[in-house]
Amino acid sequence: MRTIGVDPGKRWNIQSATLKPQAHNLPFIPPANDKGHELFDIMADVKSKASVLLVGGGSVGAIAALNLETGKQAAVTIVCRSNFNAVSQNGYNIKSCDHGKINNWKPTKVLNAIPKASEGSTFDYIVCVTKNVPDVPPSLSDLIRPAVVPGKTVIVLIQNGLNIEKPLIAAYPQNIVLSGVSLIGANEPSPGHIDQDFPDTLFIGAFANPNLSPQTQKAAAEDFVSRYSAGGKTQCSLDTRVDWTRWRKLVYNSCLNSICAITDLDTGRIRLADDAVAHLVRPAMLEIVAAAKAAGHELPATVVDDMIEMDPLDMYLPPSMLSDTRKGNFIEYENILGEPLREGEKLGVPMPTLRVLYYLCQAIQWKNKELRGLVSIPPKGNYVT
Ligand SMILES: NC(=O)c1ccc[n+]([C@@H]2O[C@H](COP(=O)([O-])OP(=O)(O)OC[C@H]3O[C@@H](n4cnc5c(N)ncnc54)[C@H](OP(=O)(O)O)[C@@H]3O)[C@@H](O)[C@H]2O)c1
Repeated sequence: MRTIGVDPGKRWNIQSATLKPQAHNLPFIPPANDKGHELFDIMADVKSKASVLLVGGGSVGAIAALNLETGKQAAVTIVCRSNFNAVSQNGYNIKSCDHGKINNWKPTKVLNAIPKASEGSTFDYIVCVTKNVPDVPPSLSDLIRPAVVPGKTVIVLIQNGLNIEKPLIAAYPQNIVLSGVSLIGANEPSPGHIDQDFPDTLFIGAFANPNLSPQTQKAAAEDFVSRYSAGGKTQCSLDTRVDWTRWRKLVYNSCLNSICAITDLDTGRIRLADDAVAHLVRPAMLEIVAAAKAAGHELPATVVDDMIEMDPLDMYLPPSMLSDTRKGNFIEYENILGEPLREGEKLGVPMPTLRVLYYLCQAIQWKNKELRGLVSIPPKGNYVT
């Protein structure tokens, strides 16, 4: 069985993000001050397909590939790992609230390794849809390195968590990195079988790269949105406040995800578990709200209650981090919990609850690392006389 990732997709109040709906298939005109940027030369003709390398063909990745190919404005090469045999032989079998039932579907190419740009495979976009686990090598920036053309390839991160762009911008200072905040609900109950039960709502904006002009970065975001939306089966929008949207999502992910994973209780049971909401969930969420505010992102006054009550109690929904611990998978705790904690504390916000949650998650991750041989411990001493 593969990781079951469930995210609070349709239950989000997407009205609260600042969105600018995009017309599809708009031609892209490079900004006047960016004539030297060769990025969009091959994209200028709207009829040509963008070539997309999608890394991480799991639940969100498979639906992203399907959306991109459905619009016929992208040819997707997907990189799979544990499900490579299933997908390369039989394609994906998808049950989707957006697309219906599709059997044996394959994107343009299915690979089990990152292709080398030097060997002729160059991509306009590299869309990264792996779980983001920076404490387990290889790092994402190293993983995609063979395919990145410096100054050209646009990197899109459709992943949860804060500061995920920093290692990418450090490694590729001349490349645009786009932020994708996905509110989908999807999982892969067995290799190549994808169940999507909440619509794919994707917010796209640029992570600010100080080396590049804001116009070029915004134009890349617009181009990606138009290609992703072209099939008409998804809600993909340009989000000019995508950092705000990321922080808002953290109120749920940093707190409910981690507390459910630590306690092995789903989002219904945690609400029934005596004082867990009052003394764990709510204080943790208020700390994230305070950290977001200190970082310049004022979240709505109702956000904590909205997040606690987002899932109907009797759904008994396991958030993705709980699904990962139940499967013995690594958890995305560094970016979902560690970075907001570090960011908040750096800005002087007391975050005692988050601190404890973070170190509990770190210990859970360590246990998994030991099981998988990533850490070694001294042999047990002989204390029997
Ligand atoms: N699922 C949701 O409903 C949802 C909703 C919103 C946001 N998200 C976020 O979206 C991101 C992706 O989540 P997901 O649920 O799609 O995860 P997933 O189902 O576990 O898929 C991730 C895929 O990436 C593959 N992968 C990991 N490392 C790889 C590598 N080095 N080379 C090639 N493939 C690699 C995994 O392969 P293996 O099977 O070998 O590990 C897996 O197929 C996460 O940041 C998650 O938090 C998820």
